[in-house]
Amino acid sequence: MTSEAALIAFTPTEDDSASRFGQLFPNHSPSQRAKDGRIGTPKRTYRRTSPDTATARTVAETECPLIECRDLAHTYHTRLGTQITAIADITLSIDASEFVCLLGPSGCGKTTLLNMIAGFLAPTAGTLRLNGEDICGPDPDRGVVFQDYSLFPWLTVESNIAYGLRMTGMSAARRKAAVGALLDLVGLPHIGAQYPFELSGGMKQRVAIARALATDPSVLLMDEPFAALDALTRESLQRQLLDIKARTQKTILFVTHNISEAIFLASRIVVLSSRPGRIVEDFRPWADFQPRKRTSPEFNRLYERLAQAIGVEGTE
Ligand SMILES: Nc1ncnc2c1ncn2[C@@H]1O[C@H](COP(=O)(O)OP(=O)(O)OP(=O)(O)O)[C@@H](O)[C@H]1O
Ligand SMILES: [Mg+2]
Repeated sequence: MTSEAALIAFTPTEDDSASRFGQLFPNHSPSQRAKDGRIGTPKRTYRRTSPDTATARTVAETECPLIECRDLAHTYHTRLGTQITAIADITLSIDASEFVCLLGPSGCGKTTLLNMIAGFLAPTAGTLRLNGEDICGPDPDRGVVFQDYSLFPWLTVESNIAYGLRMTGMSAARRKAAVGALLDLVGLPHIGAQYPFELSGGMKQRVAIARALATDPSVLLMDEPFAALDALTRESLQRQLLDIKARTQKTILFVTHNISEAIFLASRIVVLSSRPGRIVEDFRPWADFQPRKRTSPEFNRLYERLAQAIGVEGTE
């Protein structure tokens, strides 16, 4: 991947024309992107593979879903010699720019599925593809944000975010500019010199999001990223995530067992049964990415429906 390509995915909306993304990439202004047909499209114009493979991928990307799971399963073989089938029969297609919440009870295999898409775990049955190609391991093309704060404690915020960019060979000056733009994106300008221990939990997760976005991944994979935060901070970060989604048009797969969080965030909610996790509901309740009113009748109706689907009663 070229260094410039590492940031191209930060597709500003027309409202963001004065943003630092535009300043960083003057040849990729919003209007130029619109002419290129790149706003909101899943097509990507850079490749890290050979030109022939690139052509093949361009064709594949226009025809395939971004993520495709077919009859996917994962069975753990434990140290004690037993087998645990965490997920089974998962057939799921996710298109570019979707915001999908994977919702299910504790232990139903949500993290297992996310880890498989991240490339940390191999399927024990079925197929799993990204842009039409088998997922064979981790790749900067899939940014991951974990539940626990996973920043490197010995690095400053700036170095944490720039970590993946160093691998791309990007110059120090461009890295600095890129980190600045990412910190702006997550609403934390001026904290680049601080260390993770100097940040609150919410700030750490925003830095983790910035780090995950730094390599311009096709998809952002988030595993209960706000679960450890207090309720107010959690709601604030949910709103910020919707804002980041609107500004970057990233595809997001977000794991949660919190029904309200799923309704508030996602344009599509995929519900898993208890272990082994199987898809029991897959629907698109909203047509847009606007923040939803938690007290609205629609919100409450959806809450009841989801609570039934995952087999819980009452409030969380
Ligand atoms: N490395 C492992 N070895 C054996 N079993 C495992 C392993 N990791 C997970 N499991 C089991 O697989 C099942 C699914 O686990 P997973 O962590 O994917 O669930 P989850 O839906 O993410 O749960 P939670 O909401 O609590 O995070 C659980 O029964 C768990 O005990
Ligand atoms: Mg989990």
